[in-house]
Amino acid sequence: NPLDYSGVWRFRELFPFAPENQIVTIGEGQTVLQQNDGVAKYAGINSGGLYLQYEGMNPSGSFKDNGMTAASTHARMVGAKFTACASTGNTSASLAIYGGITGLFQVLVFVGSGKIAYGKLSQALDYGAVTLQIDGDFDDALKQVRRVCDQAGIYLCNSVNPFRLEGQKSIMYRVLEGLGWEVPDWIVVPGGNLGNSSAFGKAFMELKELGLIDRIPRLAVINAAGASTLTRMYNDEGLRWNDGKPDQNLIAEYFRRMDEQDGRAGTLASAIEINRPVNLTKCLRALSVCDGVVRDVSDEEILDGKAQVGRHGFGCEPASGASVAGAKLLREQGIIAPSDRVVCILTGHQLKDPTVTVAYHSGDREALAKHGAVEPHFGNAPIRV
Ligand code: F0G
Repeated sequence: NPLDYSGVWRFRELFPFAPENQIVTIGEGQTVLQQNDGVAKYAGINSGGLYLQYEGMNPSGSFKDNGMTAASTHARMVGAKFTACASTGNTSASLAIYGGITGLFQVLVFVGSGKIAYGKLSQALDYGAVTLQIDGDFDDALKQVRRVCDQAGIYLCNSVNPFRLEGQKSIMYRVLEGLGWEVPDWIVVPGGNLGNSSAFGKAFMELKELGLIDRIPRLAVINAAGASTLTRMYNDEGLRWNDGKPDQNLIAEYFRRMDEQDGRAGTLASAIEINRPVNLTKCLRALSVCDGVVRDVSDEEILDGKAQVGRHGFGCEPASGASVAGAKLLREQGIIAPSDRVVCILTGHQLKDPTVTVAYHSGDREALAKHGAVEPHFGNAPIRV
C-alpha cells in the first residue's frame, strides 16, 4: 500500500478521519532523527543525549507538509476547489506544492509584505499559487484570509484547521519510532502560531490513553524575544489551561494592551514573527498535558543555535535554531539536566532563508538590522565560513 511509504499516513490509525481512497500524499514525513554530540556539547547536554529531528527533508522543505497532507485530504473530501492560507512562508510553500502537484484545488496565499524569506516566496510562486502581499504582517494577513475564506467559501488551511494538526501529530510518532518507542525527557520546539506544540500535546495525550506510552515527555516551547506572546502570558501573567477554561479576561486585556501599543512582532526568525497565536488555548492544553515550560530567546541566541546545527548537522532555517537556543537556556537554568534525553525539532530546511545566514556568517550587522530584528546586537559569529 503506497500509504505505508508516507511518514504521516503509515500512522493513519491514529487519525482515522480519512477514507483511504481520498488520502492526498506526496511522500511527506521522510524525516531524520539525528543524535548530535556537537550540538549536545554546545547546549551543555551529555554526549548521546541530544537529538535533532530534521523536518527539512519534507517535499516543501518544512514540517508543514505533515499537516498539509491531512488538510489537503480533508479539502478533497469536502470537494473544495479553492484553498487559502496566510503565511510567514512555509505554510504557503506547503499548500502551494500540494495544490500544484495534485491539481485538486487552486491555492491563494496571503503574506505580509517584506515579511517572508525569498526561498519560501519563490516556492509559492513557482508552484503556481496566487500570491497576495498584504500591507501588514502575518497577524494582519491571517485576519484578512479568514474573512475572505468566510465570505467566499474558500477552504482555509492555516493551523486553525484541526485536520492539519492531526497530521502534525506524526512528527512525534516518528520521534518515538526513532527512539525505539522510548519516551525522551524533553521535546523542544519553536513556537509561532503554536500549531505544532498543540499537535504534540494531543499526540502524547492520546498515545498515553491508548497505552502505547507509559509516560509523557516534557514540552518546551521557545518564542523569539520579539514575538513572545506565549512567554509573556504563560510566565508573566500566569495564564493556564485550567481544565479548558483559561482566563478569557486576561487574554482580552493582554491583546487590548498590545493594540494600544501597536505591538507588532519583530524577529529575524521571520517564520515565527507572530504576536497573536491562534492556537494559544490549544497550546495551553499541551503545556498542561506535558508539564511544559515556555521561554523566549534573543535573535542572537537563535542564530548562534542555528550555526551550531549547520556546523554539526543538516542545518536549518533561523526559526528552527530557537529549539537549540532554548535547550541551551533551559540547561543553563538547571531545568534540563545534563543527563536528560532531549529532542530538538528542526522545523525548516537550511536553504529557506539564505539572506539571514550569509549576513550572520559575514558579521553584517547592518543587513541583520535591516532585516527586522527588534534589538540587533550581534557579536562576531562563533563559527565563520
Ligand atoms: N518553524 C518554522 C520553520 C515555521 O515555518 C513555523 C511556522 C514555526 C516554526 C512555528 O510553528 O506556528 O506551529 O508554532 N510557520 C507558519 C507559516 C506560521 O506561515 O509558515 P507553529
